[in-house]
Amino acid sequence: MALQHPDGGGFEFTRRLRSVSDRDARRMHESFVAPALAFDGDEMGDRLLFPLEMTWFYGEPVYESLGAAERIKLNRLTFCQSYLSTAVAEAATNVLNYEAALSALTYDDADAGEYMAREVVEETTHIQSFLIVIRKVLAHYGLTLEELRATNVSLPLATRYTQAHSVLGWVLGDLNFYYFTRFAMNVNQKTVERCTIDEPDMHPDVREILRHHAIDEARHMQMSRGTGKVALERMRARWMRNLACIGYARFAARLYIGRHRRDGSLQAGTRIRTLMLCGVEEPRAREAYRQWRDRVNQPDDPPLVQSARLYYVKQNFAYIDELDVSDSIRSYMKRAISATYGDVIRAEREGGLRPLELGELRR
Ligand SMILES: [Fe+2]
Ligand SMILES: [Fe+2]
Repeated sequence: MALQHPDGGGFEFTRRLRSVSDRDARRMHESFVAPALAFDGDEMGDRLLFPLEMTWFYGEPVYESLGAAERIKLNRLTFCQSYLSTAVAEAATNVLNYEAALSALTYDDADAGEYMAREVVEETTHIQSFLIVIRKVLAHYGLTLEELRATNVSLPLATRYTQAHSVLGWVLGDLNFYYFTRFAMNVNQKTVERCTIDEPDMHPDVREILRHHAIDEARHMQMSRGTGKVALERMRARWMRNLACIGYARFAARLYIGRHRRDGSLQAGTRIRTLMLCGVEEPRAREAYRQWRDRVNQPDDPPLVQSARLYYVKQNFAYIDELDVSDSIRSYMKRAISATYGDVIRAEREGGLRPLELGELRR
């Protein structure tokens, strides 16, 4: 962002986001940190921490072979792994958000820069509250954060993501590409989080934290959507816009909910090691993972996972429809995402899917 934009340069929408954030910022401690501190890991009863049907390996023979307590433990460890990954991903976006804030404060729309910096503060509080809860859940099972981290071998991907966008930003002179692609991450996170909030057996204290998180993240998603479109407009050369769109589609296609046939070895390693934390021997855990990923036992995902995957696709398609790009690029983007989400697109065509209904959340 090398030019002066005294009139806002397209970032006027951040004024509204900023005024909402100003109001919410005063209550950050009571929305996030206080309930995390009040949460008692030894008083969880039978409550879940993640949507039942989104528990890794749910419905597989290995899952059925676990006792009731181990199944709940697997559900809670799925939460711990997912939110440890979320915390690390939020730290990664903070690095880039602050690079963008620095640039905007120096050269561009200073008010927008201030709002970008505000998101960093919000994410920092989210990270703090997630880690408090995760540590307490782990302590209940005699585990430490360091032990969990050793099993979450996909965490370093966040560092690579930050490095790649920082280098690209340095070469191109702006973080347009980062903002343009951030939307897909927001939608992915939102979809799973809203299903967690709606899980009937969810632990009420953790649900409350996630409800507040979903409200903040809905605003961050508006930021991604608005800034993504400004970023695309600011890419002057058509080839660069097209390249950005291709990059977006490929990135969005690789993000997923549930199992994915393009799962990398790092994601696989995290899931296998999590199963091992529930007492499954390594060779059996590896084989169970292979069968789960390759849909050997359950060709179709559980209904909630299917609905969530379809929601993710639809949100992405709606974003793509809003972009000022050629029809051929638009259809390429949709095809790329459809290639990894074909199962739910087919299921919807056949009329067997119930759409995800997400009510409005308020503070
Ligand atoms: Fe967050
Ligand atoms: Fe966020």
